[in-house]
Amino acid sequence: MALNPQSAAKKIILDCDPGHDDAVALLLAHGNPDIELLAVTTVVGNQTLEKVTRNALSVGTIAGITGVPFAAGCDRPLVRAIETAPDIHGESGMDGPAQPESTIELDPRHAVDLIIETIMAHEPGTVTLVPTAGLTNIAMAARKEPRIVERVKEVVLMGGGYHVGNWSAVAEFNIIIDPEAAHIVFNEKWPVVMVGLDLTHQALATPEVVEKIAAIGTGPARFVRELMDFFAATYKDAQGFDYPPVHDPCAVAYVIDPSIVTTRKVPVDIELQGKLTLGMTVADFRAPAPADCNTSVAVDLDHARFWDLVTDALIRIGDPFDGGTSVSASVSTGEAK
Ligand code: BDR
Ligand code: CA
Repeated sequence: MALNPQSAAKKIILDCDPGHDDAVALLLAHGNPDIELLAVTTVVGNQTLEKVTRNALSVGTIAGITGVPFAAGCDRPLVRAIETAPDIHGESGMDGPAQPESTIELDPRHAVDLIIETIMAHEPGTVTLVPTAGLTNIAMAARKEPRIVERVKEVVLMGGGYHVGNWSAVAEFNIIIDPEAAHIVFNEKWPVVMVGLDLTHQALATPEVVEKIAAIGTGPARFVRELMDFFAATYKDAQGFDYPPVHDPCAVAYVIDPSIVTTRKVPVDIELQGKLTLGMTVADFRAPAPADCNTSVAVDLDHARFWDLVTDALIRIGDPFDGGTSVSASVSTGEAK
């Protein structure tokens, strides 16, 4: 349930693979009063489906989320072998802070069915899909129930990049782990906003940002601080970043307030053949964009307003899990299954 449900709130389904930055995306979606979180679905990505699902339930528990279905989805990409990201997210997929045992029961439905049922149960044009992982579940849902394509308001996804890659020279992780799924999603007729690396590399968790979050003093805020400590270390080691780019909440922030993110309409397609370019999100910047162009790319982020949204969400969430004592004091060992 949203903390402040209101009829004007933007309805979203968060499809994720927590993941340090997915966790922040989930906390932002739950804590922001302009978002109504309809469902949380998981997909193989940063770690195995089992691990990322466990992580999603832990974050939901820490945030005190109730009344929102959480469902597990595809445990492998459409065509390719599974590729995970332990160098960035650790063996559990969300290493760093200890994790509580979940108090949330997993919905028995497959995530693909939950996505379809949720979209079909709402008025056309009211549900936004926010994928922050590989696009396997979303592609499967579009194939299984094609009517969702015209019912979805838009797909605001974290993935890709028009100038840089992070898993190859030109491809980003969420796209390259299931490029065939990405090809399906980008080529459907729904509006797609690609919140890619060009934008998310501006969402750095600087020391000032982390201090501000730590100063909130609640369990969820401490949890985020500990996530950021781990994320900072791996991003420094693996990719040479001074401060970690916190990708996934940028997509949620765009849904909350599009003025925080500048976008540009431009055709984007997915490279499926290239030996060096597999999974590249090829953006055609030749102007003007064709009238039927359904894709746009995120270009510039208002860093201060973005992090204000995250800190505001954490303040609103408060301390639902342990009533004011530290998360770490009330948890099990935090070892992944
Ligand atoms: C994306 O890949 C994952 O590791 C992160 O969670 C994010 O969704 C960044 O390339
Ligand atoms: Ca992710």
